[in-house]
Amino acid sequence: MQREQCDMNEFTVSSILCACAAKSAIIECKQLHGFAIKKAIDTNVYVGTALLDVYSKCNFMEDASWVFESLEEKSDVTWSSMVAGYVRNELYEEGLRLYHKGQVGGLEQNQFTLSSILSACAGLGALNEGSQVHAMLFKAGFGANIFVGSSLIDMYAKCGAIKEAYNVFCDQESKNVVSWNAMISGFSRHGRWLEAITLFEKMQHIGLFPNEVTYLSVLSACGHIGLVEEGRKYFDHMVRKHNISQSVLHYSCLVDILGRAGLIQDAYDVIKTMPFEATASMWGSLLASCRNFKNVELAEIAAKQLFELEPNNAGNHVLLSNIYAANKSWENVAKSRHLLKESEAVKGRGKSWIETKGKVHVFMVGEREHPRIFEIYSELDQLIEEMEKLDYKVEIEYDLHDVEESKKVELLKHHSEKLAFTFGIISLPAGAPVRIMKNLRICGDCHNFMKLASTITKREVIVRDLNRFHHFSNGSCSCGDFW
Ligand SMILES: *[C@@H]1O[C@H](CO)[C@@H](O)[C@H](O)[C@H]1NC(C)=O
Ligand SMILES: *[C@@H]1O[C@H](CO)[C@@H](O)[C@H](O)[C@H]1NC(C)=O
Ligand SMILES: *[C@@H]1O[C@H](CO)[C@@H](O)[C@H](O)[C@H]1NC(C)=O
Repeated sequence: MQREQCDMNEFTVSSILCACAAKSAIIECKQLHGFAIKKAIDTNVYVGTALLDVYSKCNFMEDASWVFESLEEKSDVTWSSMVAGYVRNELYEEGLRLYHKGQVGGLEQNQFTLSSILSACAGLGALNEGSQVHAMLFKAGFGANIFVGSSLIDMYAKCGAIKEAYNVFCDQESKNVVSWNAMISGFSRHGRWLEAITLFEKMQHIGLFPNEVTYLSVLSACGHIGLVEEGRKYFDHMVRKHNISQSVLHYSCLVDILGRAGLIQDAYDVIKTMPFEATASMWGSLLASCRNFKNVELAEIAAKQLFELEPNNAGNHVLLSNIYAANKSWENVAKSRHLLKESEAVKGRGKSWIETKGKVHVFMVGEREHPRIFEIYSELDQLIEEMEKLDYKVEIEYDLHDVEESKKVELLKHHSEKLAFTFGIISLPAGAPVRIMKNLRICGDCHNFMKLASTITKREVIVRDLNRFHHFSNGSCSCGDFW
């Protein structure tokens, strides 16, 4: 068209941009953006919407947001594309904020936007907001849609509300494999292995074929609870029964299953013989198993790989040092501490979220900024005092800072999930369960703390950490101290 000097208008440009979106063609998109500016059609609503869509699909969120702001006229599609862009890039808070802003401006509620918002709620663990979207979907008549149903199941499960997830699942009139997968993965995430496996068998019973996603959930359910025989069997069934070839993720589950059950040598053999390069998460799982079963030799092998694959992850140094400490090998403890200091590794900062009265509160380890922080620390001290009567002792082996013991106790006491929990206690209605999200794996000390806290405060505590859910109630955890 250009060669023939045919005039390109806004429709031509936005059509080509759609092609760019499908192919993530960022360079062509930038050229078209330049062309649109030259032609003064860049602020046209079709062109602008198509531009921000390509930018967000290519993870150029700043450019996407810049285009969005520069558009004087925005359609419903413009708003939903921008919201979806934020959510796709895991900028959930920005997505929600824009959605609320759009609501004020009378934005039409469509299925597409509401599905994005459900994903944002799932990502943030924002249960209240998610339930409101559920009500809206229902009112707007999208309730029976299969994909909406699966997003709802996923949202409830990820927000720790497994009962509600199951209610949605049961109410769904038509289900496809995606709906079943959402429910099985929900149960698996919550350590409800019996339910996960029962559903898995049931779906086959009614003639549905599990796919590779289903198998991932089932295998990880087996891993969480230590079902070695079943795990091996299902791993085998993938190929033999359903002709699905195992991916590196399925092998990762198998390594996890074996390692968690103490079959560390078997897990290592799988890593050595499988047809893939071992991933950091496999070595990480092996290292964690070595800690649980005090295997120093394989821990050293796994750690060596991890130091290369994840030079910035201080957690690996901490784990190896804990393993040496349990082995009373103090020389090696000193060595690994030294290694940590030498390396550039930064310990990821612990961060926890809790939602109260529809607002999400974020706590960093050693938080100082939160408006009620003084109240929180004083309440936390009281709680710990009560726990000490029940024989709770802060376990300083979970801290690897090069400081004296009293300082370590202080640091551990102020882990973000403890602060979020205490805030929950003083701000949630009496008896309401406390739901917390955490960006790292929960440490052994906080795990003990939550168990006792659930007894003392007579509350259910649900913690979602990097790996899984922990349901604490009456002094014990759904993970059976196996995580
Ligand atoms: C198994 O799957 C492969 C492709 O994934 C296909 O070529 C093959 O025919 C399938 N075998 C059976 C027995 O269905
Ligand atoms: C430390 O590890 C070595 C090698 O695995 C083992 O022989 C020894 O018994 C362990 N020591 C302790 C105190 O666990
Ligand atoms: C809580 O646990 C204790 C001891 O494990 C048990 O005696 C008690 O009945 C439990 N309470 C409830 C409400 O489950």
